[in-house]
Amino acid sequence: MEKGQAAPGLYNPSMEKYHFTYQNIHKTAKSMADRVKASGFDPDVIVAIGSGGFIPARIIRTYLGKPILAVGIAYYDAHDKPTEVPRKVQWIEEAERKLSGKKILLIDEVDDSRATLEYCIRELMSHHPAGIAVAVLHNKDKPKKGSIPEEVALYIAGEELPDVWIVYPWDAQDIDAHDAAAKSR
Ligand code: G4P
Ligand code: MG
Repeated sequence: MEKGQAAPGLYNPSMEKYHFTYQNIHKTAKSMADRVKASGFDPDVIVAIGSGGFIPARIIRTYLGKPILAVGIAYYDAHDKPTEVPRKVQWIEEAERKLSGKKILLIDEVDDSRATLEYCIRELMSHHPAGIAVAVLHNKDKPKKGSIPEEVALYIAGEELPDVWIVYPWDAQDIDAHDAAAKSR
């Protein structure tokens, strides 16, 4: 498995695929920002889970105007062997100190197994933030391995999807072919 690819076992070529364009993603991210505003949860900081959360977080920043901190989680070890348990690959200690007493909006692109999300939420909670809200572009309707801790003040999924394979524009080798595939759906 190359770094940056999804964890093994997740992708199955026979799965139905949904392609989303940058335009789709931007509009979904705006709707998420609108829902955060309407909820009354006023985050101090956005935490983006890399790498899929980076672009949605940046778009949401356009609407909420909050700084972004980035964290990275991996399911492979130092020898590129898959691991069962996630590990932190980029977790800025300075950022951890900055999170104490702050309201965090945690952003990722997809809530699939929920394992990464739960791991990140629990890590963030250990730094005593004032509150955590979670926002993902897409939530898949499927049995989850992880759960959203009850301390989470708000959970927003931009779109609810069946258990399909989502093809994101940032993974496209040929963005025009990707957009054509998105339009043909
Ligand atoms: P979760 O807690 O957010 O549900 O994530 P989970 O650990 O189940 O997902 C493992 C990896 O698989 C994540 O990538 C996630 O983004 C990716 N993934 C899951 N479903 C899909 C899908 O339908 N389409 C695509 N393109 N990716 C999917 P990661 O290891 O964090 O890598 P990345 O974010 O750097 O791409
Ligand atoms: Mg991801």
